[in-house]
Amino acid sequence: MKSQIYNHAKYYEIAFSFVDQKKQVDLFEKFIKKFSKKEVKSVLDIACGTALQLEEMAKRGYKAIGLDASSKMLDLLKNKALNGGLEIETVKNDMNNFRLKQKVDFAFIMMGSIIYVKNNESFLSHLNSVADSLSSGGLYLIENLAINWADLAFLKPQSWIMKQDGIKVKTTYQILPKDPLRQIITQTLKMQVNDNGKKMEFVDKDDLKIIFPEEFKLLIDVNGRFEFIGFFEREEAKILKKISSDNIVLVRKK
Ligand SMILES: C[S@@+](CC[C@H](N)C(=O)[O-])C[C@H]1O[C@@H](n2cnc3c(N)ncnc32)[C@H](O)[C@@H]1O
Repeated sequence: MKSQIYNHAKYYEIAFSFVDQKKQVDLFEKFIKKFSKKEVKSVLDIACGTALQLEEMAKRGYKAIGLDASSKMLDLLKNKALNGGLEIETVKNDMNNFRLKQKVDFAFIMMGSIIYVKNNESFLSHLNSVADSLSSGGLYLIENLAINWADLAFLKPQSWIMKQDGIKVKTTYQILPKDPLRQIITQTLKMQVNDNGKKMEFVDKDDLKIIFPEEFKLLIDVNGRFEFIGFFEREEAKILKKISSDNIVLVRKK
């Protein structure tokens, strides 16, 4: 996979280590209790990367499968699972076109990674792949981060620093409009690393498409294999009342 950021999985994991995976999985379980029509024994993390939430689910006894296109990210996940005595199956594949050997009862995609579907056609193909891999009545949870084009704060660069084991990672993230007619933005993700004195910089610049909320619902309808449940707040199982770039979309396989 052509990515400077995802080819440096260790630094990526440090950069995003502010995530509270226990709290997130508590929220998943609330959604499951409230909306799933299928008892959940197995779960699939799509675009799992180093998969903090999937590790937490494996610890809680779920059968865990992580899918990603990056071997480097999956290698780090496999090592962590081995060292932590956790059983996690990894699948290297494109999230827009995959099949699992066995269906899972719950699927999720975190950290706005749904934006990597790139266009509506691939999103429909992605939904078909997820539908083929998910039991009927099971939920697909999408942590969606890029829908509020009306908020100027959305276009401001965000920057943060995380440190671990003598490694300091400064991450900068920015979205800028590129082609408003086609809803294309340029997403820039930069990591400036100081690894015990060795300085490095990694940058990914991708042109990606924002799927607006009403379009999102329409595409779910066009695909026809899921029921739309709602847009929710990012950290609570509460329906979103006002647009926010931080949100969760929940759909259920018919
Ligand atoms: C922002 S990271 C999210 C990783 C992890 N889920 C998290 O929350 O930290 C995005 C991930 O999407 C993966 N990815 C990007 N395009 C993909 C595709 N077409 N198919 C599968 N994985 C993809 C990258 O390799 C990367 O691991």
